[in-house]
Order: sequence, then structure tokens, then C-alpha cells
Amino acid sequence: MYSEIGSEFWLEKLQKTSNITLPNWLSSFGEAALTTSGRGAITLLLQQVIPKYKTVLLPSYICESVLLPFIEKGYNCYFYEINEDLSPNVDSVMSFQNIGVFLHMGYFGFQTNSNLKDALKHLKKDSTIVVEDITHTLFSAFSRFEYNDFYVGSIRKWFGLPSGGILASSSRSINGPILRNDNFSKIRTDALFNKGKYIKLEDADLKDKFLNQFFEAETIIDHDVAAYCIDSFSEGLITLLDADKLLQKRKENFNELSKGLKNSNYFEPLFFELNENVCPMFYPILVNNRDQVRKHLTQEKIYCPVHWPIPEQVIERDFSSALYIYNNILSIPCDQRYGITEMNKIISILKSM
Ligand SMILES: Cc1ncc(COP(=O)(O)O)c(C=O)c1O
Repeated sequence: MYSEIGSEFWLEKLQKTSNITLPNWLSSFGEAALTTSGRGAITLLLQQVIPKYKTVLLPSYICESVLLPFIEKGYNCYFYEINEDLSPNVDSVMSFQNIGVFLHMGYFGFQTNSNLKDALKHLKKDSTIVVEDITHTLFSAFSRFEYNDFYVGSIRKWFGLPSGGILASSSRSINGPILRNDNFSKIRTDALFNKGKYIKLEDADLKDKFLNQFFEAETIIDHDVAAYCIDSFSEGLITLLDADKLLQKRKENFNELSKGLKNSNYFEPLFFELNENVCPMFYPILVNNRDQVRKHLTQEKIYCPVHWPIPEQVIERDFSSALYIYNNILSIPCDQRYGITEMNKIISILKSM
């Protein structure tokens, strides 16, 4: 059993790959180009489309990094409401006009956006470019809307990967990135190996080092959202990933959490069960005293991220259900690094509160 649970992944040994072909879990999205980050993939998209209007309609529940490329390219950003069950509010979507780009996504692995069919059809009548962000549903096997023009996503959130973003389309051709800048990937490669050493040796100096490196890397891409080619080491790791194992472990862990936490009285899981096509990213819960619960878990060395801090652009508007999610959500790790033992530790700590 690991002494800590959650937070960034790690790497232990250098692996070599020779032939690089996209694995099925990526090629199923069509023609694809790989970038260093999800935001780089969005920039790459914006370099190759000329929408009818320079406006984008985004979900009000979103990570700020998704907005950055649109702001950088001078788009007017509008937001539609997301309901408390994480489905898009269709009336809110339909209330907008003159939208150049529409972005939608399923959250935490689930097809929470399945109610969008008519809205997408409506948007397409005015030539809106429809983009699905697949960051959270990368390994989920459900079929996607035929109305999607493009897919964008961050791959590096799913396993120990220095860099990784994707732009893909099953109906249009994709121009790959031309620029290369391995600064971000180099720092993250070093950080991932330092974390790998730390997990074995538990040396506190190493912890300070990799935490600073991960922070430094994020700062780089917060200030530079350009589209850079993925580094070759990360590309190799993508081809080597055992996606079946990732899927199986995550499902087992999710089901264990679901079973163990079903009668809890001070929080509410967002999803109770997995259907066959879903690969969960986390086990998200809604909890009133979120910050207190998170602090207690941190003291037990269980690190649960908050998806997400509310972006400034969203605070300014009035989205009551998205706001409720931002303020109450907590993501419990259920990823492939862990097994039933770690899940039971999480369950017993949450139950003892
Ligand atoms: C839904 C979603 N899309 C895109 C991104 C951007 O990915 P990256 O951090 O690799 O730029 C993120 C980042 O958290 C995200 O949550």
C-alpha cells in the first residue's frame, strides 16, 4: 500500500519505443495531432478554423485553462449554465445567438452531455463549429455526436506523462503543430522521475523538489498557450500505455468506493454506478464543508483535487447551479495506481468523519 494517495502521477524507469502509431483509444477520434497540452490543442484548433462569428459559448463549469486560448485569440466568451447533475442546461444553450464556436464536454468520464442533440443540430444551422472537450472522457467508449466537428483534450491528466494534448476530427483534416518547445516537458519529466524516487524513498527533500517542478511547469503553460508538438518521450509513453489495465483498475476502484460510501450522510456522490462504456476519471462527491473534509484527507495523506477553482470570467455572471458545484465538489482518486486496499483506506477515513 502506498503511504500517500492522489495528486500527480510518477515515472520510475526510462522506456524506449521505436514505432509510433496512435493507439485505438486516440485514433477512434479520427485524424489527430498531438500537442504538449490541452490548451495548446485548443490554440492549434483556433489556428485552423475561421468561424462565422468570433465568439465562443462555453460551459459555466469549466477549467480556466480552457478559456485562455480563446481570450488570447480575441474571442468573446459566453457561458451556458450547467445543472447540478453536471448536464448542460439546454434552455441556457438555446438562449444564445451568433455563436462561432460551441464547446461541450462530459465530466469525470460520464456522458453528462448526452442531452445536447437538438441544441447541436440547432447550432449547426448557423454554421457554429462544434467542439467536444474529451479530457474527462478520453477512455470512455460511448459513441459521440455526429455533429462534433473537432475534439480537443488533455492526455497528461490520466497517467505519468510529461506532456500531452490532442486535437482530432473525424470529418476534417488536421494540420499538426509546427513549433517545438520542450521546456515544459523537460521540467515535468524530471518532476515525474523525482516523484517516482520519492514514492520509493520517502525523502522530504525530493518532495519539495518535485512539487516546485510541477508548479514551475504549470506556470509556463499558464503564460504560454501556444501549440507545440508533443515531445518524443511522451509520444512513446502514449503508445506503451496499457489502456485495458487503466480501464479495469479505475472501474474496480470506482465500484469499491461506490459500494463503501453509499450510506454516507454528509456528502452526496455525483455518480452512483458505471455503465459499461464509462471509464471514470475520479469519484466526485458534493460536500457542504468541502474545505474541512479536504484538509482532513490531506492530513491522512490523501490528496483530492478540486475541479476547479472558479474562473474569474464565470464569477462575474450569475450561474447558481454551476456555482454550487464549484463550491462543493471534491474529486476522490480512483486511478490505476491504486487498488482495493487504498480505496478501503479512503472509505474508512471518510466514514470516520
Ligand atoms: C476539461 C479540460 N480541458 C482542457 C484542459 C487543458 O489541459 P492542459 O492543462 O493540458 O492545458 C483542462 C485542464 O485542466 C481541462 O480540465
